[in-house]
Amino acid sequence: MRRVKKIGVLTGGGDAPGLNAVIRAVVKSAHNAGVEVLGLEDSFDGLISPGKTRTLTPKDVTGILRFGGTILGTVNRGNPLAQPIVTPDGTFDYADRVVEMFGKLGLDALVCIGGDGTLAISHEFHKRGIPLVGVPKTIDNDIVGTNSCFGFDTAVSFATDAIDRLHTTAEAHRRVMVVEVMGRYAGWIALHGGVAGGADVILIPEIPYDPAKVVESIRTRDRLGASFTIVVVAEGAKPVGGDVTVMKAAEGGTVERLGGIGARCAREIEEMSGKEARYVVLGHLQRGGAPTAFDRTLATRFGGKAVELVLSGVYGVMVANRPPHLQPVPLSEVVGKIKTVPLDLDLVKTARAVGVSFGD
Ligand code: F6P
Repeated sequence: MRRVKKIGVLTGGGDAPGLNAVIRAVVKSAHNAGVEVLGLEDSFDGLISPGKTRTLTPKDVTGILRFGGTILGTVNRGNPLAQPIVTPDGTFDYADRVVEMFGKLGLDALVCIGGDGTLAISHEFHKRGIPLVGVPKTIDNDIVGTNSCFGFDTAVSFATDAIDRLHTTAEAHRRVMVVEVMGRYAGWIALHGGVAGGADVILIPEIPYDPAKVVESIRTRDRLGASFTIVVVAEGAKPVGGDVTVMKAAEGGTVERLGGIGARCAREIEEMSGKEARYVVLGHLQRGGAPTAFDRTLATRFGGKAVELVLSGVYGVMVANRPPHLQPVPLSEVVGKIKTVPLDLDLVKTARAVGVSFGD
């Protein structure tokens, strides 16, 4: 097996709290194994444009464990392979350029930290001969093959805190407060944040909701003397027979941007119940700020394991959390799929048991 002397690390897709913790762990564990690390800026663009790489030493990553964002920058603009690169020197195929620059920079392997999009692109580059290991990142918790991803716990903690705050104002005004959370086509953040925050109604993409059923739960609460209601709605939730609410349609290789279901729910509730409703969209606040202790630890474990796999020559895989271990899972088993909330999940059953309505 060829000795690994120099590896590249990049972060791609939307940011998630814990990215810096992974970079730090990769740099420190590689350094301690005698391997040089090159940081690639703005995902795979770091291999395309000159001046977008920098050597990372332990000193460069000291103190970043607790910071959100990513010191390497990231891009979330869909599939870069779909478009050729146009430069003053000519037009190049993106993939050819990445493979060429990987060789020119003297890299032996890459650690690619990203969500489903970045992992799918990484899989393509591995098929073209680049030895690499993927690290799963998303606040949405929707990557298959891994029990959890860093960023999710921080997003859920933030959502829980927001719901706690909304409780007091909802109660004071006897209103319905609708909280829209992220998660794309999976309801993990809504489910976990909703249960932790004591929401009365949780609407997730996996269970299309009936607005009449939502209003029924609000009326039941009113009858019991709790004249306020907290509704947590995932951005990908949809009414029975309806579709997701989209802020911006997909175009030119980019994915559709979800958003607006919170406003729609609040409107439906006001019209059907006659009660005052307000809505809040937590948006990118869920991705900002410091990672929780859980996410820092998971991210550090992911980074360390990625380097261990590189040193063992295990490529074309993603580091997966399969408690109590971290294990490599082939990227081919992961890409192009979404891990949604199973309807028979213990947490769904428990939520129902304690009286939460899923609008069905
Ligand atoms: O995948 C993470 C995520 O935050 C989703 O929950 C959300 O739909 C999307 O990214 C938002 O993306 P952007 O940052 O491009 O608006």
